[in-house]
Amino acid sequence: MTTAAITAVGHYAPDHVVPNSYFESYLDTTDAWIVTRTGIRERRFLDEGATSDLATEAAKRALAMRGIGPEEIDCIIVATVTPDMFFPSTAALVQHKLGAKNAWGFDLSGACSGFIFALTTGTQFITAGTHKKVLVIGADKMTSIMDMNDRNTAILFGDGGAAVLLEPSEEEGYGVIDAINFLDGSGMEALHMKAGGSARPTTAETVEQKMHYITQDGKAVFKVAVVGMADVSLDIMKRNNLTSEDIAYLVPHQANMRIIQSTAQRMGLDMEQVMVNIDRYGNTTAATIPSCLAEYYSDGRLTRGDNLVLASFGAGYTWGGIYVRWSI
Ligand code: COA
Repeated sequence: MTTAAITAVGHYAPDHVVPNSYFESYLDTTDAWIVTRTGIRERRFLDEGATSDLATEAAKRALAMRGIGPEEIDCIIVATVTPDMFFPSTAALVQHKLGAKNAWGFDLSGACSGFIFALTTGTQFITAGTHKKVLVIGADKMTSIMDMNDRNTAILFGDGGAAVLLEPSEEEGYGVIDAINFLDGSGMEALHMKAGGSARPTTAETVEQKMHYITQDGKAVFKVAVVGMADVSLDIMKRNNLTSEDIAYLVPHQANMRIIQSTAQRMGLDMEQVMVNIDRYGNTTAATIPSCLAEYYSDGRLTRGDNLVLASFGAGYTWGGIYVRWSI
């Protein structure tokens, strides 16, 4: 049976490092509060350019790692909540910037679960036998929708992009083995952008009332995220007969260190079995999970045969878990 294997990874973090002390300088917050409540020490800001630039740089790195040209790509899926524009899709802009002249593609809106949803989707194209090389990218320029004067949200997010290449594999038991995804739109109020869409088009008033930024009830999101991410991870373990000893890494969405720790604890994992980079990048939304994969792989901490449980929770609400047996 053909599976979809991850055959290359790439991560792009903009150069501009923004430490917690930056927010201390003008907001009523402290480095100690941010570190203890979130685990974040610094994040990256993209000063010039857009989400398609983050995505394109990440994709270039994945292609270079695989040693192939952009014309070999069949399909590009970009998970993002910060597209360059409503239309055309960010995937179209990435296709052009990469020179992937044989690819079609589309954007996928799954918020912090965007990469999990996109990896699930890309896998279907490979296992159906219709596509040979699918780029799955998670990229977000969160600074484009952040209210820098709101201490509840400004400290949480960063900009970044990361990509994986999916290809068919005939090796049994390797690649993307299983996925479980959920959607519950009743969670909309807790985390959304109030205006700019068809429900509330942009007007001078929506701009003045700061309706184009992230609106979040952090406590409400925290409560459901901590349950949802652990539940779906345990479901994946159970359905695939995985014990905590079988798992090399939990690869969690990086929103809050306390959510990550709680998920690991419920799965019976030590923190050495958990990929973490929230301290250096904050929450880069769709980019967090592939950025962890790329970093741990390039550090030599991820090896062929490792069992990984990828897990996320985000706006919608959206949540999901994927079992991957690492094949490179
Ligand atoms: N610095 C200092 N104090 C802050 C602060 C900051 N940056 N941000 C909020 N506070 C204050 C609050 O105003 C509140 O004060 P009050 O009690 O006087 O009202 C207090 O700290 C506690 O706020 P609370 O919201 O209860 O904190 P928390 O422990 O829930 O942590 C989050 C806040 C946002 C870090 C946390 O709720 C969270 O991570 N939620 C999930 C977010 C998430 O995952 N979002 C992305 C989708 S995946």
